[in-house]
Order: sequence, then C-alpha cells, then structure tokens
Amino acid sequence: MTTSENASGTRELAGKRALVTGGSRGIGAAVVRRLLDAGAEVLTTARSATSTVPEGAVFVEADVRTRAGAEALAAAAQETLGGVDILVHNAGGARPHKGSSAIPDEEWQDALDLNYLASVRLDSLLTPGMRERRSGMIVHVSSAAVATPVAPFLHYTAAKAALENYSRGLALELAPFGIRVNTVTPGRVATPGGEATREQWARLDAAQDQNETVVPLGRDGRPDDIAHAVLFLVSDRASWLTGSNLIVDGGEFPRG
Ligand SMILES: NC(=O)c1ccc[n+]([C@@H]2O[C@H](COP(=O)([O-])OP(=O)(O)OC[C@H]3O[C@@H](n4cnc5c(N)ncnc54)[C@H](OP(=O)(O)O)[C@@H]3O)[C@@H](O)[C@H]2O)c1
Repeated sequence: MTTSENASGTRELAGKRALVTGGSRGIGAAVVRRLLDAGAEVLTTARSATSTVPEGAVFVEADVRTRAGAEALAAAAQETLGGVDILVHNAGGARPHKGSSAIPDEEWQDALDLNYLASVRLDSLLTPGMRERRSGMIVHVSSAAVATPVAPFLHYTAAKAALENYSRGLALELAPFGIRVNTVTPGRVATPGGEATREQWARLDAAQDQNETVVPLGRDGRPDDIAHAVLFLVSDRASWLTGSNLIVDGGEFPRG
C-alpha cells in the first residue's frame, strides 16, 4: 500500500475532481502531481502554459486576479470535470519594494487580488455545488512570512493574513455542509517564484541576506514537502480537520 492508497488498495482520491490554481510550476505543480497520483482528475491553471505543467492534468489559461478570470475558470471546471470536489488555492506571490510606502497602489491591489480575493471569488463560485453535494475540501496556501511581516512585503503578508482569517471563518460557515476548509502555511521553499523573489529582495537590500536564514531541520523546503501536506488535508485521513493551519517550514516559524 502506498501513502496514496487506502486500506482496500484503491487510490484514495479516485473519483474526486480537483482544481489547483498556479499548477504550472513550483508548489502548485507538485500538488497537481500528488493529486493525480492519488487518483483524482485535476484541472489546473496559470496565466500561460509551460512544459512543467504535470502530464495528465487538464490545463486552462486564466488570470485568477480578476472576477472574469475566476468565472472563466469555474465554467471550465464545470465543463471539463462536471464539478469540483477539491479546490487548492495555490497561485500567489508579490514583488518586494524598498519599503511599504514604495509599494504602488496598483501593487497593493494586485497583491490583494492574487493572494486573497482570488480565493474569495473562486470559493464563492464553487462552494454552492459543494453545499448541494454536502461535501468538499478546500485548501488555501498562505505564507510563514505572515508571522514576521517585513516592509518590502507588507502588501503580500497583509493579503495572506487576510486569507488565513477568511479561511478560518469560511471553515466555520461551511462545516455544517460537510465542507472542510484548511490552510497550509509554507516556510521557505525552493521554487522558481520563491528564488526569483528572494533574489529581487537581496538586490534591494544587500544587508538582508536570506541565505543566512537558519532552518532548524537544516534545509529549504521542497515543493513536495508542501504537496504532501495538501494531499493529507484533502484526503479522508483529515476528515475531522477543518479551520486548521498546517505550518510546513522545517521548524522555522517563530513560536512563543
Ligand atoms: N516558495 C516559497 O518560498 C513560498 C513560501 C511561502 C508561501 N509560498 C506560497 O506558495 C504558493 C506557490 O508559490 P511558488 O513559490 O510555488 O510560486 P511560483 O513558483 O511563482 O509559481 C506560482 C504559480 O502560480 C501561477 N500564477 C501566478 N500568478 C497567477 C495569476 N494571476 N493567475 C493564475 N496563475 C498565476 C504561476 O504561473 P504564471 O506566472 O504563468 O501565471 C505559477 O504556476 C504561493 O501562494 C506563495 O505565496 C511560497
């Protein structure tokens, strides 16, 4: 039996239909692979297709920052999958600036749209079907940076903080309908987006050397470290988990 199989040897997400945002690379692509391995049908999206979109997934080009993008994606999911049982909000990120006052208005809005409102809009379009079926699993991907907000990223961390608060509230709202909503909070993970952002930050502030960061478990995260946590949360193994925030960061999160 593999971790994706249940006790009777069937793949644990067989028959489930999943939508994963931002699955063309990094953490999202790893999540798509894990869900496919577990037997789910998977539709994923990004603004453009790449060679790293996992084989076996349906790819739909969409920009999740807009209401129109969310609506197009929900319609594509309905058309190709016939509905969504598992929804993973992974697309996210933001460009760092010298300080909070250097962040232009449009990038505050962009950060909110991508890291927070995209989830709100897509959830509002896809949860009515889940309510009718009285089942569904939603995962929001946040960031450990919320716990230590720094000036260059306040647009990003404020949006992710809003996402965490919303995720907890949505979990309570939807629990009576058998829908589970959880958050996964990654620490520093080696992905194309993560590396590019850290390089931009280092160029802005040479004193801020992110390579100095000490991860207690001794290494940066891999996309699969996060994907395994997402797989667990959407599986029946997590059937009594909702409103939780699973921090996956090698022990880096400031506690106490
Ligand atoms: N890597 C880390 O260290 C780290 C740490 C904490 C939290 N996180 C969070 O984990 C998630 C994934 O991060 P990652 O490092 O894997 O990022 P990544 O390598 O930049 O990948 C991001 C994915 O999202 C897609 N995307 C970006 N903007 C989009 C938009 N407007 N509409 C649709 N798709 C969009 C990208 O494709 P296109 O650009 O082609 O659209 C790509 O597929 C994000 O929410 C991020 O905030 C990452």
